[in-house]
Amino acid sequence: MSKLSGKFAVVTGGNSGIGLAAAKAFVAEGARVAIVGRRQQAVDAAVAELGPAAFGVVGDVGDLQTHERLIAEVAERFGGIDIYMANAGMNNIEASEAVSVQSYDAQFGSNTRAVFFGVTRALPLMRDGASIILTGSIASAKVLENHAVYAGTKAAIGAFARSWALEFKARRIRVNVLSPGPTDTPILEKLGVSEADRPAFENAMASAIPLGRLATTEELASAALFLASDDSRFITGVDLRVDGGIALT
Ligand SMILES: NC(=O)c1ccc[n+]([C@@H]2O[C@H](COP(=O)([O-])OP(=O)(O)OC[C@H]3O[C@@H](n4cnc5c(N)ncnc54)[C@H](OP(=O)(O)O)[C@@H]3O)[C@@H](O)[C@H]2O)c1
Repeated sequence: MSKLSGKFAVVTGGNSGIGLAAAKAFVAEGARVAIVGRRQQAVDAAVAELGPAAFGVVGDVGDLQTHERLIAEVAERFGGIDIYMANAGMNNIEASEAVSVQSYDAQFGSNTRAVFFGVTRALPLMRDGASIILTGSIASAKVLENHAVYAGTKAAIGAFARSWALEFKARRIRVNVLSPGPTDTPILEKLGVSEADRPAFENAMASAIPLGRLATTEELASAALFLASDDSRFITGVDLRVDGGIALT
């Protein structure tokens, strides 16, 4: 039997990168999946790729109304949630003295506030024994230059995960963080790594990462599937780093 047959999943940021790869892995194991992202075209393209087991909601997760619309639609179509992957996120690499209030609020809005209210708004629909996965980052464990705000957004969700692992224990809801290291996704281009700069960036990463390369989205997705499924049924409150060992350096 498939690992997630009969399960209902929500993946924020499921229209790109790690979220899309995780949504594909969940569907391949029998789950039905709701994805969320801001770009209509990217959400439509991802739903087309995921097939009839998926539907999309377009909205900004920094806006509470997006969560209310999402939950209403998931309630109608699925009637419950077994897996909630709070994965949407962004990163502005800036020296702290250059960070504007807008940049600070945008990063905390999508990476932290959205996780808190997304999970708490979804809680009434979650079935007992559900799995919550928060996409963190090795930036919360390892100091990366010009990442202070981003590191703060991801450190905060680690605190949410540990608090919630205890708070939701009566319902056997497990809460874990999945922390990627450098992973080959469209976020790299958003951070200013152009196609032309890609080989130099990958070489620099290869020498910095003990396992010698960037992660693939499929490698993150297989860890997400592990945390989503019964394979991790006795694991809660952990931060699973999928980073090729870079946090150790
Ligand atoms: N790739 C890496 O090296 C790396 C390393 C550590 C951690 N991470 C984390 O992994 C997660 C996924 O990133 P990724 O690398 O897969 O990047 P990505 O391909 O850029 O995906 C980010 C996703 O989040 C969505 N998103 C961002 N802000 C949103 C908002 N306010 N409202 C709704 N959706 C929003 C984006 O969709 P729209 O643009 O359509 O809104 C997109 O689907 C993020 O939390 C990121 O911080 C990535």
